[in-house]
Amino acid sequence: MNNLKNKYGTKALVTGGSSGMGKAFANELAKQGIEPILIARSIDKLKETAKAIFEEHNVKPQIFSVDLSDENAINKFLSEIENQSIGLLIHCAGMENNGSFLKINEGKELQMIKLNVTSTYLLTNHFARKMAKIKKGGILLVSSMAGLMATPYFSNYAATKSYVHNLGLSLYPELKMHNVDISVLAPGLTETNMVADNGIDWSKLPMKSMKPSEVALIALNNLGKKGTIIPGFMNKMMVFMAKRVFSIKGFSKMNGWMIRKAISNNKI
Ligand SMILES: NC(=O)c1ccc[n+]([C@@H]2O[C@H](COP(=O)([O-])OP(=O)(O)OC[C@H]3O[C@@H](n4cnc5c(N)ncnc54)[C@H](OP(=O)(O)O)[C@@H]3O)[C@@H](O)[C@H]2O)c1
Repeated sequence: MNNLKNKYGTKALVTGGSSGMGKAFANELAKQGIEPILIARSIDKLKETAKAIFEEHNVKPQIFSVDLSDENAINKFLSEIENQSIGLLIHCAGMENNGSFLKINEGKELQMIKLNVTSTYLLTNHFARKMAKIKKGGILLVSSMAGLMATPYFSNYAATKSYVHNLGLSLYPELKMHNVDISVLAPGLTETNMVADNGIDWSKLPMKSMKPSEVALIALNNLGKKGTIIPGFMNKMMVFMAKRVFSIKGFSKMNGWMIRKAISNNKI
């Protein structure tokens, strides 16, 4: 097991820390005696999560309501926490749009680019520089299996997650030179609010869902050891098929055919 406290210190920033995987990361960190600093938009959900973490682990998380799709809000937040020594960044906040590319609202797609891409650049850049200076730190970016393969009807989402994956993987050797770990988590279907009611009938797709807590633990144990962390056997198999068994075009067509069967008719 990775000794995170020894490696990265006592404070970790967890974006999207109020629910789903971010909440699972925050819980696991608190269990290991690390103080999580949680970011999300809804202050009520943040308070609720922080209270539950305190009651269970006797560690009091800090909470910040920040809209990470707003560049100015990110910069304001970063200056507020400038003097805290944060040794670990877990950038988990993200949003997902699905449906025909020709139908999805342009504003929603642009917001997704700002949240999934721009905030990833800004936070990674900020913390990589600070961590490299003191030659200590860890960064975990949350991509998606969709970022590793063509995913029709999730096209713009998949593209944003490809950015996240490629940024992290490219930085892996670059930051190692400065003793900073970076890894990218590429989860498959995970039981969170994001996929609870998003117009996809997941039972029609060959995917086995995982619990956020198991995904978080796998990710934390592999941080700095692997560039890309794919949790779960079925997910690894799917990536293997997409990259090694099928041609890129062949897989893209097959994935499109499968998703078309699972997505609500009114979305395509
Ligand atoms: N669930 C899956 O099957 C799956 C699979 C692959 C990858 N992922 C990725 O995993 C990550 C976590 O998602 P999840 O499944 O845990 O979803 P979730 O339960 O919906 O959690 C999303 C978190 O992000 C926060 N958030 C959303 N928009 C935000 C914004 N503009 N500014 C700040 N915080 C924001 C949410 O809080 P507020 O709404 O209060 O802001 C919440 O805390 C995402 O990056 C997602 O793309 C999920």
